Amino acid sequence: MATYPSISHLSIKLFMKKLLIRGGKKLNGTIEITGAKNAALPLMVASILTDEKLTLTNVPHVSDISTMANLLVSLGIGIEMDGMDKDHGNQGRVLIFNASNISNPIAPYELVRKMRASIFILGPLLARMGKAKVSLPGGCAIGTRPVDLHLKAMEKLGAKIEIEGGYVNASVEGRLKGAEINFEKVSVGATENTMMAATLAEGETILHNAACEPEIIDLANCLRAMGAKISGDGTPRVVIQGVEKLHAARHKIVADRIEAGTYAIAAGITDGCIRLKGVEMWVLTGVKEELEKAGLSLTQVEPDVIEVKRISKLIQPVSISTHPYPGFATDMQAQFMSLMAVADGASTIEETIFENRFMHVMELVRMGANIESHGSLAVVKGVAKLTGAEVMATDLRASVSLVLAALVADGETIINRLYHLERGYERLADKLIACGADISILY
Ligand code: EPZ
Repeated sequence: MATYPSISHLSIKLFMKKLLIRGGKKLNGTIEITGAKNAALPLMVASILTDEKLTLTNVPHVSDISTMANLLVSLGIGIEMDGMDKDHGNQGRVLIFNASNISNPIAPYELVRKMRASIFILGPLLARMGKAKVSLPGGCAIGTRPVDLHLKAMEKLGAKIEIEGGYVNASVEGRLKGAEINFEKVSVGATENTMMAATLAEGETILHNAACEPEIIDLANCLRAMGAKISGDGTPRVVIQGVEKLHAARHKIVADRIEAGTYAIAAGITDGCIRLKGVEMWVLTGVKEELEKAGLSLTQVEPDVIEVKRISKLIQPVSISTHPYPGFATDMQAQFMSLMAVADGASTIEETIFENRFMHVMELVRMGANIESHGSLAVVKGVAKLTGAEVMATDLRASVSLVLAALVADGETIINRLYHLERGYERLADKLIACGADISILY
């Protein structure tokens, strides 16, 4: 059993990594879908809620996991790795958390600025330790992304919240107290943070207008396995009966629906056929329907295998608007835009969740796409072909939309700032190369 290695910082060489993609290959093959980054992050934080061991399996190998592990280790949480099947890249697929000796309930700016999800520790630390000092996350490429809903919910549960020097100082006398909380806006993170805090609160907590994402259900399943009393997860009304203590548990992380959706588009945009292994159709709700309208077929060919291929000769233009689950996922918006960039006609894409999530538009235009964006709306006029170019990744999902465009573009595309991609996609180049893509990594 190995202790989780603390990742100091990316070497300059890794920082400067680029992808070189030669387009025009139809992709065929099978891609293993890993555990969901956006489920793994709150699940890792849930370890704070008990002094017994929490074991997570199907952990994705993406850099955000290392960043979260570093944060938890800095709080005094022990993390061991298991699953030593190195050959199949499965080392560290199982992580065992031991939060029996949390010594330092502080999340420094240095760690939080790297990953906003660090704010998730606020609720569990308050519930378990009665205090927490967490840096405010600061700005983000895709939007202002305030955390006011998290803080208001903690106050509703009885915590005292003070903001000083860029830090949230939170404390509570005794245990948190159950409360009725009506979220002004649907927030995945605020729902997860509050749900975790409420598991150890005195009495009942009811969340209204809660987020319903599959990652919320996965977190609730794990918390129930730890002894929490939760019902209604996956619906806008979630009820949590607080308990005195949570205990050890083992939980398999749900498949990454955004990774699956991304490779589904890779199959459709290259007119190939890809089997997505390790995923069930329900998690693709909200996206599947729009992909089918665009001319793709998605078939569950085995209990955990979905086959994706294009059934229409040309990609059909489909207009979408992003919404919380079960609406069209904002984390699939950029990838869908790449598909629409080569569709047989015009479509509109409306981004309703984040106010600055069109950074990929001008990079796609550099590749010959015909896209105009005004505020939260983009008008995409499909073109017969894209052309390879040197482009810049700006955030996780924008970067993968450039990969998808490059797979069908004539000639070579160079994508800079690969580190954005590695935050949320495990071995993307290997997986696409295994399906016939012509990709190399430039250092
Ligand atoms: C989660 O972020 C995901 N991240 C995001 O995925 C995803 O885009 C987002 O949910 C929406 O689906 C993780 O799970 C780690 P929100 P989160 O709170 O929780 C506003 C990716 O690419 N808001 O649901 O931060 C906020 O500004 C990432 O993997 C407040 O106003 O998103 C946004 O407009 C990117 N106040 C909206 O709500 C708050 O206190 C939804 O944000 C909290 C949020």
